[in-house]
Amino acid sequence: MSKNSVNILAIVGSYRKGGSIDSAIDQILSSAKAAGAETSKIYLIDKHLSFCTNCRSCTQQAGPQYGACVLDDDMTGVLRELERADALVLGSPMNAGTVTAVMKVFIERLVCTAYWPWGALSPKYRNPEKKKQAVLVASSAAPAFMANFTGDVMGRLKTAASMLGARSIGTLYIGLAAKQQHQELSRRARKKAQILGKKLAAGQ
Ligand SMILES: Cc1cc2nc3c(=O)[nH]c(=O)nc-3n(C[C@H](O)[C@H](O)[C@H](O)COP(=O)(O)O)c2cc1C
Repeated sequence: MSKNSVNILAIVGSYRKGGSIDSAIDQILSSAKAAGAETSKIYLIDKHLSFCTNCRSCTQQAGPQYGACVLDDDMTGVLRELERADALVLGSPMNAGTVTAVMKVFIERLVCTAYWPWGALSPKYRNPEKKKQAVLVASSAAPAFMANFTGDVMGRLKTAASMLGARSIGTLYIGLAAKQQHQELSRRARKKAQILGKKLAAGQ
């Protein structure tokens, strides 16, 4: 592997390994790998992530470093891997109109990526430059064209990417993803996933 290869980390917010989101992310990563990138994947369901308690300890100190969380669980390790990554893939199905609960827990824990002292009305991103690139992947039972009317998955994932200092360079939306228990990705979705993987690997 070349020293300059892009290190891509995917965060899977689906409950199903081998489901639509996981398969789409695999396509993105294998295409990126074929184009020379290093790739890895974290299943949020395999991690022990506690609920944010809103103590805000992690948001009190200014500076580019993520604030330290008082909770002792897997989030510290996940954040370390996210910091090491040059590019991200964030994926979640739409459940009850938004990201899955496990993805939401993860996103809430990203509050440590913001400086938000008591007294300030709203948080400020610690890494507003968005130097990293991200691809966002979402799926739903509803067809893709209804996505923006029925839910806000892409919006939530975009916010998560911003908190992690990444800007979206492309999205993949898989509609009609709940017709069968085990559903193949459409040719179109596979093709788009491959293009997005190459784009991430090229750092474009
Ligand atoms: C609890 C639950 C809630 C869901 N809510 C929605 C929803 O609000 N809108 C929708 O279009 N699909 C909804 N779905 C369908 C999922 O989005 C669909 O099964 C998923 O995108 C498939 O992704 P996966 O293969 O990675 O599991 C829901 C599914 C479950 C289990």
